[in-house]
Amino acid sequence: MKAWLLLVAAFLLWPGCSSQKACDEPDEVDFGEIVSAEKAKYLENDRVQYRCNPVYVLEGPEWIQCKGQEWTPHPPKCLAPCSITRQQLAAKNLFVFGNQRKARLIQNNQSLRFQCNEGYVLVVPSVRKCVDGYMDLPLCISERGKNCSGPPRTENGDIITLSKKQYRSGSSVEFRCQTYYAMEGQNRSFCNNGTWTKVPNCLDPCMIPRTELESQKIEVKDEIDAPENIFVQHGHSIELTCRTGYVLAANSSQSAFVIHCNGTPPVIPKCKEITCNSPRISNGTFRPQRTIYHDGDLIRIQCDSGFTFDPDNGEKVVECTKNGWSPPPKCIKKCDTSLRIHNGHFASTYQDMYIEGNDIRFVCDQGYSPANQQSTSTCTKNGWSPAPSCILTERGCDYIRIENGRMAKPYELYRPFPISEGQSIYFSCNHGFLPTNKEMWQAATCIKSHYVPELKCFSK
Ligand SMILES: *[C@@H]1O[C@H](CO)[C@@H](O)[C@H](O)[C@H]1NC(C)=O
Ligand SMILES: *[C@@H]1O[C@H](CO)[C@@H](O)[C@H](O)[C@H]1NC(C)=O
Ligand SMILES: *[C@@H]1O[C@H](CO)[C@@H](O)[C@H](O)[C@H]1NC(C)=O
Ligand SMILES: *[C@@H]1O[C@H](CO)[C@@H](O)[C@H](O)[C@H]1NC(C)=O
Ligand SMILES: *[C@@H]1O[C@H](CO)[C@@H](O)[C@H](O)[C@H]1NC(C)=O
Ligand SMILES: *[C@@H]1O[C@H](CO)[C@@H](O)[C@H](O)[C@H]1NC(C)=O
Repeated sequence: MKAWLLLVAAFLLWPGCSSQKACDEPDEVDFGEIVSAEKAKYLENDRVQYRCNPVYVLEGPEWIQCKGQEWTPHPPKCLAPCSITRQQLAAKNLFVFGNQRKARLIQNNQSLRFQCNEGYVLVVPSVRKCVDGYMDLPLCISERGKNCSGPPRTENGDIITLSKKQYRSGSSVEFRCQTYYAMEGQNRSFCNNGTWTKVPNCLDPCMIPRTELESQKIEVKDEIDAPENIFVQHGHSIELTCRTGYVLAANSSQSAFVIHCNGTPPVIPKCKEITCNSPRISNGTFRPQRTIYHDGDLIRIQCDSGFTFDPDNGEKVVECTKNGWSPPPKCIKKCDTSLRIHNGHFASTYQDMYIEGNDIRFVCDQGYSPANQQSTSTCTKNGWSPAPSCILTERGCDYIRIENGRMAKPYELYRPFPISEGQSIYFSCNHGFLPTNKEMWQAATCIKSHYVPELKCFSK
């Protein structure tokens, strides 16, 4: 009972569990189910598992996860099997390869090889695949059917088999498309009882005129010979690129692009020359000075004194690229570390140069403190900020008369009062009296304007 209570408490305190549900119920799938345990609400990172009904095939992920209020990836599908009956096969004069005519179930994406009754010719291909419950069965053509006359034609394609006056039912002719034309459909047409089965189509290629490429400053990638016009077969693509020194007008960070030939006339993009304008540099100059620069042009940056080139790549040279000046030329403030701080100094400097954004530490002399209560200063474009300065915070210790004692002569003589913080004096006590250490001489240090220990003599 106690353990159970603890579990509940842990559950309530758990940060993820106190939040609202993250995802809706995951989608159901047809011909399948969710097999992981069902929940009242689904939280971030929850996972669910799908399974398909027998003979249905899962396409997609078995597991999906709740991420940012969405299930990812999308739920899977359960793909249907194909069923073929004895009657279907008999009606089409078909057998499954091996002379079988048994009814059967074929899983999605599985194939069967078919053959025809004797006296029949099979319209290729003989192997057919089951696609989500659908299988296109081959046609069996009777050799006893009527002859066909002259074979059919297809535009931009040729018949490559011997041409005859008469074709027996079940015989076929083979087609090939002319150069650059792409074939759609089977390359054979069969004589079927006096008529020809569907002929293939030869799809037009895309033509890219050389003159257009030249006027748009485009080159064909890896091109060896340069024909007058470029043909791209339907369904194929070609990689083109802007000439050196040019980029796509629509996207200057790109120079290569791909043209797909898919039945619509290809759109050839424009290329534009890579140029850079004269840069504006605060606190610096550059040369050579021009109004416009081209790809690969270099300029040398000279920063005004007290400023330095950033990033300091040694060269102080920037290049005109498709993305503009690279690196972007900038002169930034270089802060002075030889600056004298009154009653203080910079802590040892680890860098040889301090530029905008760098911090430096400084130390104040005894009795002095940083004026801004912080002992670091940042290099900004206006110099050190806050300016490193030290102010007197402790005023030292004055000469005082010691009852029944006196300060050591040398200190009275050589050190003018007040003495600084941290400095010491010696004192001794008159006869019959002793200082704190009960010795002849006692040292006392000035700490926060007071002597420590006190300048006191105690009677023996
Ligand atoms: C379908 O089968 C072929 C081989 O026959 C295989 O390469 C392919 O990956 C399968 N596709 C699916 C979705 O299972
Ligand atoms: C051929 O077609 C005719 C009708 O045009 C039909 O009567 C005949 O049975 C068919 N022959 C075969 C073998 O299918
Ligand atoms: C059909 O064509 C073949 C040759 O292709 C020929 O021998 C036969 O006589 C033709 N049959 C008819 C009925 O025309
Ligand atoms: C016609 O198609 C078959 C099978 O798809 C193939 O083996 C044959 O090479 C093709 N013929 C031509 C001329 O492309
Ligand atoms: C430009 O091209 C870059 C690099 O290929 C790409 O990341 C970016 O999305 C493109 N921009 C536009 C507006 O198409
Ligand atoms: C640095 O450049 C800025 C902006 O152009 C200007 O306001 C400033 O006076 C310059 N500083 C020096 C020291 O030349």
